[in-house]
Amino acid sequence: MDVPVLKTENLGINFGGLQALKGVDFELREGEVKALIGPNGAGKTTFFNVICGNLKPSAGKVYFKGEDITGWAPFKICRLGLSRTFQKTSLFPELSVFENLRLAAQTGYGKRNVFFRHAHSDEKVIDIVERLIESVGLQDKARHPVANLSHGDQRLLEILVGLSTNPELLLLDEPTAGLSVKETKEMTERIKELARTSIRNVIIVEHDMEVVTELATRICVLYYGEILCEGTVDEIKSHPKVQEVYLGRSV
Ligand SMILES: Nc1ncnc2c1ncn2[C@@H]1O[C@H](COP(=O)(O)OP(=O)(O)OP(=O)(O)O)[C@@H](O)[C@H]1O
Ligand SMILES: [Mg+2]
Repeated sequence: MDVPVLKTENLGINFGGLQALKGVDFELREGEVKALIGPNGAGKTTFFNVICGNLKPSAGKVYFKGEDITGWAPFKICRLGLSRTFQKTSLFPELSVFENLRLAAQTGYGKRNVFFRHAHSDEKVIDIVERLIESVGLQDKARHPVANLSHGDQRLLEILVGLSTNPELLLLDEPTAGLSVKETKEMTERIKELARTSIRNVIIVEHDMEVVTELATRICVLYYGEILCEGTVDEIKSHPKVQEVYLGRSV
């Protein structure tokens, strides 16, 4: 049988007395775009932080492409092909679009002593960055400081940063947060296109069920740090437990 792209076993983490994740068994198979949903504080971002090495779990294991990566440093996990975006935009606002991407690509491709080399000499990195910028039509803004971009373009750039290391798995944490209805539609189309052309394995944390329905093949529901249920979009929408949790909210 194929090895899952990502697998967690009995994953747990405590913050003092709070069990933010409890016995989470999760699996993503090759070619899947899976949505992770759940109310505020359910543990979605914490789950990403533990997978990517930003937080160490109190219990359990994380396997990426069959390799046990539990407790690895984030840069090592990134170099193995696992990339993420952040719920709150985490770009360098005073640097340009190009510079933000160049830094990310250099880190991901494992160049040592980047601070002592002439950055512009690295043609491979420049080529990757230029192709990424072109792929979303941001050429006109490539030399602009990120602080001058619209919120929508900043969220898009955040995804490009995630893609700059050519990952095999991309974790997206609320990519449409704070976007207008129009920007959300555009972002959804972009992600759909990316999932079709450049990154087949995606986990997306998202509150907007229209976006989830449009993008995901399966949904996993997290509730108070535990997986409540998992299934196809239709199965989850009609699941009694989900309706209970989201009482008063349309799922
Ligand atoms: N570093 C931390 N220290 C202490 N508690 C934390 C920390 N990070 C998260 N928590 C707590 O863990 C729980 C899960 O938080 P998390 O941010 O993972 O939720 P979430 O599902 O991403 O929520 P949202 O939808 O609001 O982004 C919350 O109760 C939160 O307050
Ligand atoms: Mg979150």
